[in-house]
Amino acid sequence: MRIIKIEMGIAFFLVLTLLNCSEDDNKNSPEPSTKLAIPFASIASNVTDDSFQANWVLVPEAENYLVDVSTDSDFSVMLTGYDALIVQDNAVTITGLSPASNYYYRVRAQKGTEITNNSNVITVTTTGVAPEESEDPTFLKVKANALENPFFVGVAVKSNQLTEGSAYDVVLKNEFSSITAEYEMKMDPISTGSGSYNWEAADKIVNYGNDNGINVHGHALVWHNAVPDWLSDFSGTDAEFALEVKKYITDVVTHYAGKVSSWDVVNEAVDDNGNMRNTIFLQKMGPDYIKDCYQWARDAANAAGDTDLLLFYNDYATSTNIPKQDKVFSIVDNLKSNNLIDGVGFQMHNNYLSPTKEQIETDINRAVALGLKVHVSELDIQVNQNNDISYLTEERALAQKEKYKEIVKIYNALPKANKYALTVWGFKDNESWIPYSTDLNHPGNDWPLLYNNKFELKKSHTGFLEGLE
Ligand code: XIL
Repeated sequence: MRIIKIEMGIAFFLVLTLLNCSEDDNKNSPEPSTKLAIPFASIASNVTDDSFQANWVLVPEAENYLVDVSTDSDFSVMLTGYDALIVQDNAVTITGLSPASNYYYRVRAQKGTEITNNSNVITVTTTGVAPEESEDPTFLKVKANALENPFFVGVAVKSNQLTEGSAYDVVLKNEFSSITAEYEMKMDPISTGSGSYNWEAADKIVNYGNDNGINVHGHALVWHNAVPDWLSDFSGTDAEFALEVKKYITDVVTHYAGKVSSWDVVNEAVDDNGNMRNTIFLQKMGPDYIKDCYQWARDAANAAGDTDLLLFYNDYATSTNIPKQDKVFSIVDNLKSNNLIDGVGFQMHNNYLSPTKEQIETDINRAVALGLKVHVSELDIQVNQNNDISYLTEERALAQKEKYKEIVKIYNALPKANKYALTVWGFKDNESWIPYSTDLNHPGNDWPLLYNNKFELKKSHTGFLEGLE
């Protein structure tokens, strides 16, 4: 400690001596060498739709100024010609700009080799109307939006894909106008106990849709494959069980009222033999449980002021399994006669051979005949359901392309009032739920989607586009 004190004493003495010397020197020199002050940028003037005048306050002794202009507030990229543009005056006109756009400028003063730090940053918005977004017709939603009777092109998403600037984010914003959560809006991830919820992932998905003008379809309030443990282990009475389901539906629909356009209220209530699936809901609540769930969803939406919410029934394999189709439509019929349903979701986990065009049309037309909306809700098209190829062959890729084209054409031919969305179940082949799926008994690898592992467009993507012609 003592040594440090002595050293500090010496340093203090030296500083004093130096200060005295410079005072003496200054007495003799004509120009005092002061440090340049950092310039102060003032607001822009003469703002038009393609230019503005940047202004700042003159700094004594400065020889010139260096002006940066950028479209982003942290100046990561400068406008061409405005990266440290040298200006002698205290103003400069910035030209060649876009209308209704934000620009940022800042200034440094310079004298010889001395350059000050940056000034404060000024934001300017040019006048006029923003140019139209690029309407590239090779993007799915652009082409779908240009149709006589447009519909949403949807994709199943996971919350961790929605990071701004990620490949998913870019493809999503370019190509899709609707999203469905692949699993994070199901009961199991959201419901952590009676009346307690984890909204984190689901909120992220819904906010992403809302913030970016993308439709959000809710999937799914009641599904036998997504029952949380606390509810499957429920030890109360059947009436208490029903109250838990009611509370869940009410709370979730209320939480997302005005933020999601539609919900699959009950998912897959019919088994592959065309009977009511023997789920915990059927066992504890009886066959009227479906109607009750729709009523609770409708009541919650109305109570929250959301009278536009669309309620869907969603199921799979109804085009090929006629007993199942019949049972689904008896449920849908019943809901419709009680004014509790707006649409039917046809999952369409198809393959390159099946179902046929006629089978799909017959199935979908039953919803049309009831005046309901049609959602092709989980489209993917397998090409290796028999495990007879080890890579996506040219022949299979072409067959898949034709099948995508076929279903898009069928969908697009629907009357305006029955159109809602055609949703693809994921982005990249290698992240699809199909390959080796135990749920599906899928025997091997598969390539069911529109983008390959590298996010490149497949022939199936071209098929989708051609279906929109
Ligand atoms: C699947 C998801 O793709 C999987 O990631 C998840 O683990 C299980 O659910 N029918 C449906 C969808 O209604 O919710 C299912 O999604 C696929 C079958």
